[in-house]
Amino acid sequence: MKHSVGILILALFIGIPVLGAQEAKAASILNHYAARNFIAGPINRADLETILRAGARAPSANNRQPWLFTVVQNQELAKKIVGDTVDGNVLIVISAEGDGKTNGRAILDCALATENIYLAAQALGYGSRIYTGPMDAVNRSFKADLGLPAGYNAVALVRAGRVPGGVDAVSAASARKPIDSVVIYK
Ligand SMILES: Cc1cc2nc3c(=O)[nH]c(=O)nc-3n(C[C@H](O)[C@H](O)[C@H](O)COP(=O)(O)O)c2cc1C
Repeated sequence: MKHSVGILILALFIGIPVLGAQEAKAASILNHYAARNFIAGPINRADLETILRAGARAPSANNRQPWLFTVVQNQELAKKIVGDTVDGNVLIVISAEGDGKTNGRAILDCALATENIYLAAQALGYGSRIYTGPMDAVNRSFKADLGLPAGYNAVALVRAGRVPGGVDAVSAASARKPIDSVVIYK
């Protein structure tokens, strides 16, 4: 009991929503967090396919669907891209045609697909984290390994995998700006 009161106070303090019944319908969006600590263990094949379908279900400008998803299950390659990858982690690299800098509309579309993949993984009970830090290295050195067609560049990747129990948005997510500071009503 004391424990749950403590969690409630912590949640209110860092701005992570404690959800009412109506808000709970959007729980997978309101209560995500970027996993830091992954543990070894597989992602079920059917779950992986659902995660990828969620990515491909993203909206895109003029419905162009410019994304390509490379699913990296090879642990040797995954570790070259994200050094602390643990066994069973899957990296989903989202790429699109263009230089990755000036093809703004495709980048925005890929960002939406990235978010869908990131959220779907968590909705299915896995941990996930978005990375753009490794993109320069990926586009310099690993495009062939990832099977990217000529003219494509990686935009982001989502790492998904098993996470320890007992971690959630309340205990793990960073504080967000107060909602009043990022919303203007007119
Ligand atoms: C576009 C984007 C790029 C990111 N790149 C990295 C990255 O390269 N490395 C990393 O460890 N985390 C990366 N992150 C994760 C963010 O640091 C994380 O989402 C943010 O700190 C909020 O975390 P929280 O939801 O757990 O509070 C990235 C997130 C986004 C949305």
